[in-house]
Amino acid sequence: MFKIINISKTYKDKKVLDNINFDIKKGSCLGIIGESGSGKSTLAKIILGIEKANSGEILKNNKPTASIVFQDYNSSVNPKFTVYEILNEPFWNSYKKLDMKNAILLLKSVELEINILKKYPHELSGGQLQRVCIARAIANKPNFLVLDEILSSLDILNQIEIINLLKKIKERNNITYLFITHNLESIFSLCDRFLVIKDGKILDDILVNNFLQKDVSPYTKQLFNAIIPIKF
Ligand SMILES: Nc1ncnc2c1ncn2[C@@H]1O[C@H](COP(=O)(O)OP(=O)(O)OP(=O)(O)O)[C@@H](O)[C@H]1O
Ligand SMILES: [Mg+2]
Repeated sequence: MFKIINISKTYKDKKVLDNINFDIKKGSCLGIIGESGSGKSTLAKIILGIEKANSGEILKNNKPTASIVFQDYNSSVNPKFTVYEILNEPFWNSYKKLDMKNAILLLKSVELEINILKKYPHELSGGQLQRVCIARAIANKPNFLVLDEILSSLDILNQIEIINLLKKIKERNNITYLFITHNLESIFSLCDRFLVIKDGKILDDILVNNFLQKDVSPYTKQLFNAIIPIKF
């Protein structure tokens, strides 16, 4: 769906992305991990066309229609809007409007109750609000969705529920995902492949099924060794 070729990005004199190359295959879920400030969100914004790269190019196939969900669900919704109004935001620039029937279908697809439509963000839990943000992101039926650290502000049970929800949405709608996360375990339940980024460079490009066989960088080993194996 995308071919990212030699992308570099500098803010002022700081090199944030350094000669990045990879593909995103249609229908796949590509994970991106890497410490804070390593350039993950910048890369996603360049792919979405929100930011411009200084050099390199992005080839697009299959007419991508894209959408994004952010980490901070509170600041990504207008507190004065009801859920129904939030779900209607993607239609502001079109003649279409999300009618009540479709709004209800959309809510059902993210496993929320219909009575939420009239509520305001402050009346919802974090998990519910993040589901509303996911519903808004898929309202226009995109074929490519960037999920930028969308689990980070949620408790562990909500994280698991949202991962399961994302799997269902992906299968149902055949959406390609770019999944940026600090949650390494979630990579294994959602992604086919993941990149490890450090200081704007790709250190590893790993197929999930091949993870144990692959010789990875010391940095990636360190990241995965930090996961504490607990079994109940
Ligand atoms: N608009 C901007 N202007 C100047 N510098 C920026 C801008 N956006 C990002 N940066 C800088 O670019 C670097 C990479 O930022 P980016 O947001 O891509 O990191 P990230 O990997 O997404 O981090 P996090 O995990 O904290 O979200 C950081 O040093 C950041 O301060
Ligand atoms: Mg980021």
